[in-house]
Amino acid sequence: MEMETLQDLYVEELKDLWSAETQLLKALPRMAKAATHPQLKRAFMKHEKQTQQHVKRLERICKGLDVSPRGKKCVGMEGLIKEGKELISEKPAKDVLDAGLITAAQHVEHYEMAGYGTCRTWARVLGRPTDAQLLQTTLDEEQQTDLDLTALAEASINIEAADSSDDE
Ligand SMILES: [Fe+2]
Ligand SMILES: [Fe+2]
Repeated sequence: MEMETLQDLYVEELKDLWSAETQLLKALPRMAKAATHPQLKRAFMKHEKQTQQHVKRLERICKGLDVSPRGKKCVGMEGLIKEGKELISEKPAKDVLDAGLITAAQHVEHYEMAGYGTCRTWARVLGRPTDAQLLQTTLDEEQQTDLDLTALAEASINIEAADSSDDE
């Protein structure tokens, strides 16, 4: 892959995001299954649906650029998902697991937000306003997911996780 222009870098980052999203699409059902709190389960399932759209938007953008979204592995997302898996395999107490799943998911959302913010700006610079709009829509959904997770954590899950350590 030639890496001479900003457009080349833009395409590389789009491929990276596509890889990240498709990896996450496989991980989210596992996270929903592992979560105990019904609202947290629901949040993960809702984000799975959104993530399907994120993949589609990236495919649409790549089609417009006449490139394939495939061909790159996002090792950043791979690592973040691995951390989530490790947490689940340690079998923590239920509320503690929920709190841990939230932080794992928030790491993922922030990682995605960094990528989408950059790509959105590059799309603008490259004179691709439709791409920029699609990327912004996804970015907004990632941000909202992050906020929803914070609200869930603050409303109950962190408190319950702290309580469960009091019991011991
Ligand atoms: Fe996403
Ligand atoms: Fe996301």
